[in-house]
Amino acid sequence: MSTILVKNAKMRGSEELCNLFIKDGVFAEIGPGVSPEADEVIDAAGKLVSAPFCDPHLHLDAVLSVGKPRYNMSGTLIEGINIWGERMVGLTKETIKQNARDVIKWEVANGSMFLRTHADATNTSGVVVDALLEVREEMKDLCDLQIVAFPQECIFTFPEAPALMEEAMKKGCDVVGGLPYMEYSPEDGLRDVKFVFDLAEKYGAMIDIHCDENTDDQSRYIEAMTRETLVRGMQGRVTASHTTAMHNYNNDYAFKLMGFLKKAEMNMITNPFANSCLQNRTDGYPRHRGHTRVDELLANGINVCIGSDDIMDPWYPMGKGSPLAGAYLLMNYAQLSGYSQVSQLIDMITCNSAKTMRLEGYGLKVGNPANMIILDAESEFDAIRLQSECLYVIRKGKVISRTEPARRTVVFDGKEEQIDFKLTEKNL
Ligand code: FE2
Repeated sequence: MSTILVKNAKMRGSEELCNLFIKDGVFAEIGPGVSPEADEVIDAAGKLVSAPFCDPHLHLDAVLSVGKPRYNMSGTLIEGINIWGERMVGLTKETIKQNARDVIKWEVANGSMFLRTHADATNTSGVVVDALLEVREEMKDLCDLQIVAFPQECIFTFPEAPALMEEAMKKGCDVVGGLPYMEYSPEDGLRDVKFVFDLAEKYGAMIDIHCDENTDDQSRYIEAMTRETLVRGMQGRVTASHTTAMHNYNNDYAFKLMGFLKKAEMNMITNPFANSCLQNRTDGYPRHRGHTRVDELLANGINVCIGSDDIMDPWYPMGKGSPLAGAYLLMNYAQLSGYSQVSQLIDMITCNSAKTMRLEGYGLKVGNPANMIILDAESEFDAIRLQSECLYVIRKGKVISRTEPARRTVVFDGKEEQIDFKLTEKNL
């Protein structure tokens, strides 16, 4: 296997430039003076390097389906669910696979190498889970893909659903999902949570539940999740996605909940793209933000990460599979523009997500698999501000993606100028 030397790299949290020597697919040496002979030398020229991004919340079964069979005119979650039901009629495995493969390439080009997707396991044809299991295998040289058996139609709304969920786990899904707040009754919502934990215990799987993705201050399935996690000793293996209702909880209840979440080592995934559009849409004015309490969760030492969720589908018509774009939106939306908070945003698309996904050997450390990215930015601030292109993606010691940064030539008063939107020495 060929060796690579990445030199003059700006590591997160360090001013000094550093070299990374990659041999046999792992980081063999890292340090300022490291400079052995290598088959390939990549000069990072002071650009920011990082462990790859992780995108821990996707719906690859729905991506790129916007407008098919029709557009979401109201922009609501409910109309999106109805359109999804219409789309599923006659949907083929190959269509799902093609769209999923395209978005995986977008994600990798944007620097993501570790992805978690939900797969509609309650679709009676079984075609969705099969499609994404095949994509996981076909795309394994580009990324690690975790698949969640997700009950898009809920677990207790029709008799076959529990067996379909178990079938998905037998086929090879990695994570058990749930949808308690969409069950027909609060009792069924609690049964939904218990079912997910039982199934996860049976298959030794992780848990990632779509939890309280509404704006109802009485939607509190997060409490049931926390209880099950603690009673069953499953700390660290459980993730609550969305939890947008938390925004509207009274502060006394939220304060108590923070302590429980910390004790349960709950992982939280916030999805700023769709949730900024879908939640609290019915408020009138004043209108809440419809987003979980990101700053409070972080301040309480709870693991929070950012997911893309929907990319051009019935629920969200935009998106390009870019974690940096998610970080940029969340910075504004969750008011995380304080100096140290910007660095937290990068954590939320790297190490925090890796923790949620329970990745082993993640990070730029000697002995770890040589997975890394080089961004077209000198700082974390600029990486987010410019939503920088990812110049190199290296996976297990191999360059799997290269991007030439866009060059903008602008003509002012007949004279050409290069504009890259970066600070220079002239900017005092
Ligand atoms: Fe989702």
